[in-house]
Amino acid sequence: MESVLESVLPQTQETTVRDLEGKIALVTGGTKGIGAAISERLARRGATVVINYFKSRNAAGRAVERLKELGSEDSFAIRFNMAKFQKFPKLFDKIESRFKKLDIFISNAAMGLYSDLMGVKRKNWEIALDTNAYALLACTQLIAPIMPPGGRIIALSSLGSTRYIPGYASIGVGKAAIENLIKYISVELAPKGITANVVSGGFIDTDALKAFPSYEEMKRDAIARTPSGRLGTPEDLADVVDFIASEKSRWITGQTIIVDGGYSLM
Ligand SMILES: NC(=O)c1ccc[n+]([C@@H]2O[C@H](COP(=O)([O-])OP(=O)(O)OC[C@H]3O[C@@H](n4cnc5c(N)ncnc54)[C@H](OP(=O)(O)O)[C@@H]3O)[C@@H](O)[C@H]2O)c1
Repeated sequence: MESVLESVLPQTQETTVRDLEGKIALVTGGTKGIGAAISERLARRGATVVINYFKSRNAAGRAVERLKELGSEDSFAIRFNMAKFQKFPKLFDKIESRFKKLDIFISNAAMGLYSDLMGVKRKNWEIALDTNAYALLACTQLIAPIMPPGGRIIALSSLGSTRYIPGYASIGVGKAAIENLIKYISVELAPKGITANVVSGGFIDTDALKAFPSYEEMKRDAIARTPSGRLGTPEDLADVVDFIASEKSRWITGQTIIVDGGYSLM
């Protein structure tokens, strides 16, 4: 018999509703972890998904193959460091010249060095703030002219935006900036029929989480403290992004939606 906890594990059902047919999506950091799960979900729903990555060409190649298998035949990957905002126009020129528009933008890629507050160097601060918050702002400025009504801007955040997570100071501040920035984006782009929201995850078991110096301890504590009794999965977040990217979420804008199995209630 299914236990209570098994019943809250993600159900990876193949959805056949291809209601994003004709839509163009860009997922930054779309080759691994949460970004890969989101890209695949959007491709299954019929969108043409362009993904960005920074270091791992092999992972990018595999991710594009997978997206093509899911029906996103024109998918491709763009290698690009999301901290290098001076070059962002190049990224969007490629999309505009190929597709003439961008319907869905997922700001997911992020970088940051884990360090106690006293050890945060100016460089760490810049990387965390640039890849999290400034990337969202600068990309939004470039996207707005080519995003049609019904467009969706969705950024990924984490509980470190409002709570203390050891070693997470600069990244946590970057996430807080994202959550505030999204309110400004949502108000200014609402007249164009575009919504902007944040999906914020609790502890999600990906390479980024495994890079935490105290991964094992953190994982044990997170499971013990989460009422739903497990770590999150990339699919837990992809399911929510899936909804926010859809027409059904049209009246939600400027919000941060927390997806953490109840962790932050404790
Ligand atoms: N894991 C969690 O517990 C958790 C919880 C809540 C929110 N989040 C957020 O969710 C997002 C994704 O996290 P994740 O755990 O899925 O990470 P991940 O598994 O480490 O994947 C990160 C992805 O981003 C790309 N990337 C990293 N730095 C980049 C840069 N400077 N420019 C362009 N692409 C870059 C990586 O490509 P390469 O490997 O090729 O560089 C990879 O595709 C982040 O914003 C993170 O803060 C994570």
